[in-house]
Amino acid sequence: MKNNYYKKIWATANKHIENGNMLLSKRPDIYLSDLWPTYYSKAKGCAVWDLKGKKFFDLSMMGVGTNVLGYSNSEINKEVKKAVDESNMSTLNSFHEVELAKKLKKIHPWADSVKFARTGGEANAIAVRIARAASNTDKIAICGYHGWHDWYLALNNKNKKEFSTHHIKGIPNKNGVPSVLSKFIFAFNYNDIDHLKYLIKEKKIKIVKMEVERNIKPKNNFLNKVRSLCSKHKVILIFDECTTGFRETLGGLHKKYKVSPDICIFGKALGNGYPITAIIGKKKIMKYAKNTFISSTFWTDRIGSVAALKTINIIEKEKTYKKILLTSSEIKKNWINIAKKNDLEIEIFGIDSILKFKFKSKDNNLYKGIITYLMLKKGFLANTTIYVSIAHTKSILNKYFRELDNIFSILKKIEKKIIPKNKFKIKLPVSDFKRFN
Ligand SMILES: Cc1ncc(COP(=O)(O)O)c(C=O)c1O
Repeated sequence: MKNNYYKKIWATANKHIENGNMLLSKRPDIYLSDLWPTYYSKAKGCAVWDLKGKKFFDLSMMGVGTNVLGYSNSEINKEVKKAVDESNMSTLNSFHEVELAKKLKKIHPWADSVKFARTGGEANAIAVRIARAASNTDKIAICGYHGWHDWYLALNNKNKKEFSTHHIKGIPNKNGVPSVLSKFIFAFNYNDIDHLKYLIKEKKIKIVKMEVERNIKPKNNFLNKVRSLCSKHKVILIFDECTTGFRETLGGLHKKYKVSPDICIFGKALGNGYPITAIIGKKKIMKYAKNTFISSTFWTDRIGSVAALKTINIIEKEKTYKKILLTSSEIKKNWINIAKKNDLEIEIFGIDSILKFKFKSKDNNLYKGIITYLMLKKGFLANTTIYVSIAHTKSILNKYFRELDNIFSILKKIEKKIIPKNKFKIKLPVSDFKRFN
């Protein structure tokens, strides 16, 4: 009955909203069609309640990577409520923006100028606009996911043999994007320094935009080599840390690798769920923001900067990045032990604070669907990816590990054909992003 309910509310959403919602990562079919709750009534810590008040612990995406400090963090809420009471908007500006800019510069001494936006995609578009204005060139080499804007999606418009199948299966992502833009965007695979060298030299590229790290670890000093290459050829290096920022260090993940870009972009965790993104960079490049048109009314809303200031304050005070890394290593250790105990082969990957595993089996996707199906019955939102948060306490994790152990023993029985593959009547989750990194 309840299952029909979830299906029904998603059908209702699709009747009124194109595609049901705004975000790829909140579509139910990515997890489990018809059975995923999809809508929440409230959330606190890592607990999420569905529309009928059923409680789940979120061992999955934690707000698509936004809530490192847990949902509805009371300390941040207090500041935000004050900002609401004193008005989040006026004809004049909020000085919190200036304070936030100063704070981001202090954390990243290589940067001496800042711009703000509210979403990762637009922050990327701003960085690209500034870099194009500064270099007086159009071409960009990319390695990562950088949002929904034309400059980036144009990559897919050209059906070249290299990198024509980015993104998610079955979603047409080139319609509506001017195909003419594709001649400006080139992709390189993570750790492939030779291809980047080729692009910079042969295509005369002056802008490189990449995620510092995602699913693949840097090898052979890759990040340092990218930095040197860009410096040697006077190429503007942009790190997109929308997802990696403020999870594993106070600031960008690039601090861990001791490699500084010319521009860096933050989003997601920066406001712990409140919309705020930042573009920080070197003045000699950022000053070109004055020579182009970059502007939006809601970038001046006060809630974002207030939330970010408090978020950073908590991260700094409580060294939450250390707690997150400890929790991550605990999760990794338990995943390995549970797999070993049940004689199932898994591979763990992802950055330390966004852990993923996959089964070394052709039935990986089926197993992933079964995990979600059985975890939902036990009160967890879970598949094979965890965006680690400080709200993932030991007792919640221990309960999760116990359930995962039980599920793995069922999967082993499926592998051994003791239980039929089709025992659980589920639709397979649609596959994840294809990435260059
Ligand atoms: C590295 C990176 N850049 C940009 C974006 C886009 O951010 P937003 O969804 O806030 O537009 C994302 C979102 O997942 C991301 O991971």
